[in-house]
Amino acid sequence: LTEPYLAGRSVLVTAGPTREYLDPVRFLSNRSSGKMGYALAAAAAEAGAEVTLISGPVTLEPPPGVQQVQVESAQQMCDATLTRTAATDIFIGCAAVADYRPTRPAAQKIKKGSQGLALELERTPDTLEQISKLADKPFMVGFAAETEHLETNARHKLNSKGLDMIAANWIKAGRGFEVDDNALTVLWHGGKVELPMAPKIYLARGLIKLIAEHYHAKDSA
Ligand code: PMT
Repeated sequence: LTEPYLAGRSVLVTAGPTREYLDPVRFLSNRSSGKMGYALAAAAAEAGAEVTLISGPVTLEPPPGVQQVQVESAQQMCDATLTRTAATDIFIGCAAVADYRPTRPAAQKIKKGSQGLALELERTPDTLEQISKLADKPFMVGFAAETEHLETNARHKLNSKGLDMIAANWIKAGRGFEVDDNALTVLWHGGKVELPMAPKIYLARGLIKLIAEHYHAKDSA
């Protein structure tokens, strides 16, 4: 049984993919199923926290006791997060947020022509970077999904995004996106731990315990 490591604390989790529309029927997105983020929301609620889950479009039901906010685009995910960060003790960014969106989405369905079609893309807001600029920011945990140089790239994100902790996962067959099991390399300033391959809910419980330890150590410092 999980101990109430986070009783009386508020946790905000983002999960799932975002959708960036080209026209009213087509969008750019990714393979995130929301399983990892929903497992984290469930584990944080088991640990006694008041949990809000900001979710992109997925087919999962929110875990019991968790307040769910549904969004579609990276902009909506960023806005929904920023309006809630002041009331948040711990933020966990597990969503696979699009880094780019079409610069000029078409108001009507794009018609097929005889030529190819070039899409112009612009950057979306980075939710983690926006939160890390706030004077009164929560304890911040990011994720890193990598196809190469897992630890180097994750440590770079830990520093550049102003995070307290980052959970890095490999993107390869049977790992990371969509599947039920995963493994995480968790990094913080001056340390790391490997959470070996396990069902996402077990992994989430392990990560929530680790986050709670570091959060309480920082809070009482
Ligand atoms: O949903 P599942 O199918 O269970 O898969 C889980 C997962 C693979 C999606 C998850 O474990 C994971 O790795 N999530 C983060 C995926 C990702 O987008 O990583 P990234 O390296 O591109 O982004 C780094 C961090 O910045 C993430 O915390 C991300 O939420 C955040 N970010 C990224 C872009 C952006 N515009 N705003 C952000 O806040």
